[in-house]
Amino acid sequence: MPSLSNADELIFFVNGRKVIEKNADPEVNLLFYLRKVLGLTGTKYGCGGGGCGACTVMVSRYDPKTKKIRHYPVTACLVPICSLYGLAVTTVEGVGSIKTRIHPVQERLAKCHGTQCGFCSPGMVMSIYTLLRNHPEPTPEQITKALGGNLCRCTGYRPIVESGKTFCVESTVCEMKGSGKCCLDQEEKSFANRLEKICTKLYNEEEFQLLDPTQEPIFPPELIRMAEDPNKRRLMFQGERTTWIIPVNLNDLLDLKTSFPKAPLIMGNTAVGPSIKFRDEFHPVFISPFGLPELYFVDNTDDGVTIGAGYSLAQLNDALQFIVSEQPKEKTKTYRALLKHLRTLAGAQIRNMATLGGHVVSRPKSSDLNPILAAGNATINLISKEGERQIPLDSHFLKNSPEASLKSEEIVLSVYIPHSTQWHFVSGFRMAQRQENSFAIVNAGMSVDFEDGTDTIKELQMFYGGVGSTIATASQTCRQLIGRQWDDQMLSDACRLVLDEIYIPPAAEDGMVEYRRTLIISLLFKFYLKVRRGLNKMDPQKFPDIPEKFMSALEDSPIETPQGIQMFQCVDPYQPLQDPVGRPVMHQSAIKHTTGEAVFVDDMPPIAQELFLAVVTSTRAHAKIISIDTSEALALPGVVDVITAEDVPGDNNYNGEVLYAHNEVICVGQIVCTVAADTYAHAREAAKKVKIIYEDLEPRIITIKQALEHNSFLSVEKKIEQGDVEQAFKYVDQIIEGEVHVEGQEHFYMETQTILAIPQAEDKEMVLHLGTQFPTHVQEFVTGALNIPRSRITCHVKRTGGAFGGKVTKPAVLGAVAAVAANKTGRPIRFILERGDDMLITAGRHPLLGKYKIGFMNNGVIKAADVEYYINGGCTLDESELVMEFVVLKSENAYYIPNFRCRGRPCKTNLPSNTAFRGFGFPQATVVVEAYITAVASQCNLPPEQVKEINMYRKISKTAYKETFNPEPLRRCWKECLEKSSFSTRKQAAEEFNKKNYWKKRGLAVVPMKFTVGMPMTYYNQAAALVHIYLDGSVLLIHGGCEMGQGLYTKMVQVASRELNIPESYIHLSETSTNTVPNAIFTAGSMGADINGKAVQNACQILKARLQPVIRKNPKGTWEEWIAQAFTESISLSTTGYFKGYQTNMDWEKEEGDAFPYFVYGASCSEVEVDCLTGAHKLLRTDIFMDAAFSINPALDIGQVEGAFIQGMGLYTTEELKYSPEGVLYSRSPDDYKIPTVNEIPKEFRVTLVRSQNPIAIYSSKGLGEAGMFLGSSVLFAIYDAVAAARRERGLTKTFILSSPATPELIRMACVDQFTDVIPRDDPSTFTPWSIHVS
Ligand SMILES: Cc1cc2nc3c(=O)[nH]c(=O)nc-3n(C[C@H](O)[C@H](O)[C@H](O)COP(=O)(O)OP(=O)(O)OC[C@H]3O[C@@H](n4cnc5c(N)ncnc54)[C@H](O)[C@@H]3O)c2cc1C
Ligand code: FES
Ligand code: FES
Repeated sequence: MPSLSNADELIFFVNGRKVIEKNADPEVNLLFYLRKVLGLTGTKYGCGGGGCGACTVMVSRYDPKTKKIRHYPVTACLVPICSLYGLAVTTVEGVGSIKTRIHPVQERLAKCHGTQCGFCSPGMVMSIYTLLRNHPEPTPEQITKALGGNLCRCTGYRPIVESGKTFCVESTVCEMKGSGKCCLDQEEKSFANRLEKICTKLYNEEEFQLLDPTQEPIFPPELIRMAEDPNKRRLMFQGERTTWIIPVNLNDLLDLKTSFPKAPLIMGNTAVGPSIKFRDEFHPVFISPFGLPELYFVDNTDDGVTIGAGYSLAQLNDALQFIVSEQPKEKTKTYRALLKHLRTLAGAQIRNMATLGGHVVSRPKSSDLNPILAAGNATINLISKEGERQIPLDSHFLKNSPEASLKSEEIVLSVYIPHSTQWHFVSGFRMAQRQENSFAIVNAGMSVDFEDGTDTIKELQMFYGGVGSTIATASQTCRQLIGRQWDDQMLSDACRLVLDEIYIPPAAEDGMVEYRRTLIISLLFKFYLKVRRGLNKMDPQKFPDIPEKFMSALEDSPIETPQGIQMFQCVDPYQPLQDPVGRPVMHQSAIKHTTGEAVFVDDMPPIAQELFLAVVTSTRAHAKIISIDTSEALALPGVVDVITAEDVPGDNNYNGEVLYAHNEVICVGQIVCTVAADTYAHAREAAKKVKIIYEDLEPRIITIKQALEHNSFLSVEKKIEQGDVEQAFKYVDQIIEGEVHVEGQEHFYMETQTILAIPQAEDKEMVLHLGTQFPTHVQEFVTGALNIPRSRITCHVKRTGGAFGGKVTKPAVLGAVAAVAANKTGRPIRFILERGDDMLITAGRHPLLGKYKIGFMNNGVIKAADVEYYINGGCTLDESELVMEFVVLKSENAYYIPNFRCRGRPCKTNLPSNTAFRGFGFPQATVVVEAYITAVASQCNLPPEQVKEINMYRKISKTAYKETFNPEPLRRCWKECLEKSSFSTRKQAAEEFNKKNYWKKRGLAVVPMKFTVGMPMTYYNQAAALVHIYLDGSVLLIHGGCEMGQGLYTKMVQVASRELNIPESYIHLSETSTNTVPNAIFTAGSMGADINGKAVQNACQILKARLQPVIRKNPKGTWEEWIAQAFTESISLSTTGYFKGYQTNMDWEKEEGDAFPYFVYGASCSEVEVDCLTGAHKLLRTDIFMDAAFSINPALDIGQVEGAFIQGMGLYTTEELKYSPEGVLYSRSPDDYKIPTVNEIPKEFRVTLVRSQNPIAIYSSKGLGEAGMFLGSSVLFAIYDAVAAARRERGLTKTFILSSPATPELIRMACVDQFTDVIPRDDPSTFTPWSIHVS
């Protein structure tokens, strides 16, 4: 940063050490500063916009007024360093480290198996740690609340919550146990007759260090002195382009506001920060009154409360809680409405950063607070040099009308919220894609004031968020209803009027138009019911209550702390203690994950001369590139070069994948060029200045439907057929036909694609460090692009922060792109994709269309199925052909259908190329199967589980492609799942519930699974390992598999430990690289541990055999003695190990083969509760039974099952990618793509690993990486069951098909009722929608 003479020094503390920054740049955020300036890389980048929590740190602030220190969590990516003056920051490094002492929070998160890839772990640690600093003995509810703003893509959250719960006083891990009705006791009894003993303990609580709050670091006394300094003065920091000013007091602030009327006041920076980052807003001056005492106060009076504008939303929450506890209920209706929304607004970090003043002034279009404040008649107290004045927080203010808003020199001092009164009702409602940390789709604040003692409307107010560019009011409607009685007729008129007044045009931004229209009146109905209930409570004689069946419509699903139980086989009591196989050993890197010491690629220190790469991507789906003008970009400071297709010395089009677009672009998001500069900020700024002129080309194909119209495919059709389908259709009782759409999914691995490419001085060698599942493929692409032999390219993978299939092929293209830049500039290239670029460029799971024709008997037996599948492959082949093969081979799932034909073809479209994703087509295709089975059940009037059972494989059989298998474990999982989940009793209870509740419905579903592991080509199942024994007895273990959180390295150490008969501590596994194990295949397809385990076993057995003579001579000797002796006898202590691969094959001509080495079976049962008025659902309970054969590590395997299940649940419910009709992906951040959070996981989550045999795999284990994904569909079908119940009650008995994802929109619109009936509908031919489905 350049030095400016008149700038002040920025002083703050990080982990107890004083930081003096002489050149503080207002544009630099804390995350960057920690990572790049202070070298504290434990804090991670996941999104840059406050939405993922990976960058959570604790800020501590001393308040000279109260003399108290406030500790609170923040997302460092949204904290400008200049806002930290006088504050103390604690990062994960400051909490504890392996080098000094690990903190109990870090220890427990690791030991409870709360980390997999470990990328989210430092953020998780910081959220729990900060909570404990404020509440050393938290309640389980506080733990869940503290974690709501932290995303984890691997674990499924259960173990993370559990680690937090170990700090709760009342916590027993199984809370059901605490209730005296311990499920475990019953389970143990029912398992008692079995041969193997069932364990439920994945860790030992007795090992945990105690939390001693007195040991926490003290707040730096110097900062107390600074805060209390009576001679404070105005401070100013000057950056490259901007100035930051901290006023000394309120007067000074008002002076500044007069001098710089356009300068934003930076409070929480949660509105300004994202606008700068994502919308390219620029402000030359920032004023930062953060901490000015005049903005921090609560003033309670008889009529209401005045709250200082500087109060954070978390402090606002506490203040309102206090008032609610003190005041009579009738006075606190507005406060309670605000509190409800404050619980779910963003996550804990944002709630602690964002301020009341900032919220009110920034007026988010789906603000959760402003509609309630307006409905509650709040007023805003303003101040300027001219004096003070009040303005109402009303519709004019919310619409930003200049006459009703702040003047540029004014600031908000405070907000006054009056008490409600006896006949005044105030409520807030919100509906979002996800319960917490998700902007509302539509929300509302409503109030009604009655003539005293009557239900005659004196005043009515309705404010809606999410229906336009600002908060909308239905003032005309409200006016027209004055004087009316609060009755059904009034409601009906109100719905009609409000729909007229608040009009959402058919092509409106954000889409979901009909849904949003429905929500407008559904929320109004909720308010209507709530008020009627309130009136009844006040005078039951005068005001009749609402029908009993409607009561549950008033309640939002509560956010509860999840609990669960995990069951697995215990190890043989005679197994030596040292032998770790079969034990729930902690992830090898877990402690490093939780201390932030695990090194990911971008954590590697800067390399001399390194350059940063930013991408320029196509904005057109299909177009000719007319010109690329890089002159403006090249002229910017720090820019070294712009790299295009012309700069690729070798093959720019390698195996059908284009590195840099040349002449033509084939999707939005295709890389056209990259900019290399001295900093990432410079590269990014320059990338924006590259000018590309395009000429659109025809056709532009975005959806599967369009591809079918254009006959646009990536490969030929794949088909499997058995029996005589046509003939069978002639003899069945009934035939149904239908279509199921399954949309795609974004991997959302927490660590975005990251590459460090370092050209070497000699022989054109290049070294790449990256996160990938397939280093050999990267090596191949780099070799192709640079036109040099593979032996010169080395790829290193230490670990990657999640992958899920997204890092199989994509890193090869990106690695080659970076390598070309490194080659051209001759300098190391650091290429870190921003979250938005990653989501745009790398694509994800294939959207799928399934068309079926099913012939069946009236008893539910399916005789014939003819199924066609199409997947949206995007613009290049990538893995689409293989995905389609898997779809066709696996899609029969668990069912035997004697006459079965399945065909599939991948479509070529102008979308970014879709790729591998956990389950590889199975999770999409099998939903189609479950959908048609459910449809058959509905046609036969039978329960779906009965139809599933009668069509399920029973005995040793052949698949449709004639591979023999034994479905015994399938039947066992299915049976146990039904029994242990008490399916039939709970189903009855749900039916009872549904009879009593009109607007809430419960549904249950159970799904069976037959999942194949491995690849249909033997050579894809091969693996190699390299084992060195050093002379001190320590062992270096290397194999070709990549560690991405699944615990592969941990399992490999377990294998080596057993084989060499030495403790795990002797064995070190550092990284995977192409120069140690060459030509390794990808780590995917649930095969990592299987095949690498065999190779490791082989290597260890070779070494053990070599050592045998030495051991025989000295059988009582130690390992170290044997090694020393072996060396003196010139016995080689290093070897490779090899596994040739399982024998598999598939003959597509004959449509048969032994395509897969083995099968994994499972079943899962889920129960949900659906709110028919909003489309929200709550997952009440899930039971999973997964056939693990013999689990090498039950903790890791359960982690895989749970994590995959939650990821699957996301696929089938909340995760929705939105594309424009022109093929532009809108969903590019956690703000608009909603993976599950801690609140989405089942309230009760039970997982059992079922024992079976699998002799062909190592130690008779099974690969469980992917299988759990599909089990998430039990949630989808439970939702279906609930919606079907609602539809039946409304007289809709016809079978309907619920596509995936079952978003709130889909659920709500399927629950057809009087509200969906009255909304305006538009003729689809008259407008172009904002977004489209691409499946
Ligand atoms: C990840 C994320 C999730 C979110 N989720 C939700 C959600 O679910 N629901 C929801 O309602 N909101 C949500 N928000 C929005 C959030 O509520 C607002 O960004 C926040 O309240 C703004 O407050 P701030 O203090 O950070 O404002 P800042 O960004 O600091 O300032 C915003 C604006 O207000 C002005 N300003 C600030 N204070 C004053 C003052 N005292 N006087 C005059 N002008 C002032 C500034 O000049 C600036 O123009 C989310 C934000 C993020 C980043
Ligand atoms: S990186 Fe800061 S919240 Fe995601
Ligand atoms: S462990 Fe949470 S994101 Fe990987």
